[in-house]
Amino acid sequence: MSVEDRTAGAPDAPLPAGRVRIRTEPSLPAITAQAVNGRSAHETREAVFDIRDLAAYYGANCALAGTTLRIYRNLVTAVIGPSGCGKSTFIRSLNRMNDAIPGFRVTGQIQYHGHDVYGSRANRVEVRRRIGMVFQKPNPFPKSIFDNVAWAPRNLGMKRRLADRVEQALIQAALWDEVKDRLHDSALGLSGGQQQRLCIARAIAVEPDVLLLDEPASALDPVSTASIEDLMHNLKHRFTIVIVTHNMQQAARVADRTAFFSLDTAGPERFGTLVEYGDTETIFRGASDSRTRDYVAGRFG
Ligand SMILES: Nc1ncnc2c1ncn2[C@@H]1O[C@H](COP(=O)(O)OP(=O)(O)O)[C@@H](O)[C@H]1O
Ligand SMILES: [Mg+2]
Repeated sequence: MSVEDRTAGAPDAPLPAGRVRIRTEPSLPAITAQAVNGRSAHETREAVFDIRDLAAYYGANCALAGTTLRIYRNLVTAVIGPSGCGKSTFIRSLNRMNDAIPGFRVTGQIQYHGHDVYGSRANRVEVRRRIGMVFQKPNPFPKSIFDNVAWAPRNLGMKRRLADRVEQALIQAALWDEVKDRLHDSALGLSGGQQQRLCIARAIAVEPDVLLLDEPASALDPVSTASIEDLMHNLKHRFTIVIVTHNMQQAARVADRTAFFSLDTAGPERFGTLVEYGDTETIFRGASDSRTRDYVAGRFG
């Protein structure tokens, strides 16, 4: 099974049944950004991730350097930037999705609710359960719609009221009405947009706290893309969402906060760095770095 084939929350080995389940904490109402003592109101929220001086390497190659930022609860945070600037590497570092890649390593620190994601006491299975992931290309398993959504809960021993759990996940992913009469049909018979919403349902079936989405709509048609964007608005009341997108209009439509990464050079080396991070409106209308202004104006990328 390749890394891309793993679903959100997919365990490396099944956990024993009957362990304590950690529920998602109740969500906060959405607030709009207003400056409070010169700070964005978003920055007064609880930080889900506190990332300090993160660097990521594939063997000797540095893909990302010197990344420091906080990701706030119940917001949509977009990650934008030109191809190869480390966007995927960045979000895959947040839930240790790259651990299976030989030679991959990170330096610096990623604190998740105060816990070191790469610390010696971190439980990788639990990290993946709490921090779910959806990929660019919908990747349902060749199983029924029901079994796709039930897969991770079953593996994690969350078997009580499984049918309810599957139904709730499909409702939250705005797919229930379209599939409720054919739950036992193959997931591969769904359209691309439906498959992607199924992958979102599969991710949320294990009650994560964070959803990481790596260009989730870039393989979809405009109608399916719009339904994924609508879904982001609804899901952020329950989850903290980090979305990588190539599409700047999409970032402007869905994200409360935007992080712009770019490629930096040091001699022959090229690596990704965080150039600017702030409220989406500021990044798109009043960025302080000229590289951000050029990128959002479409002058490179
Ligand atoms: N599995 C991998 N093995 C080796 N290098 C990789 C791997 N994945 C990405 N890279 C390298 O890391 C850099 C950043 O890639 P990536 O995070 O995929 O950027 P983006 O998502 O912004 O396009 C690129 O130079 C890319 O070639
Ligand atoms: Mg990428």
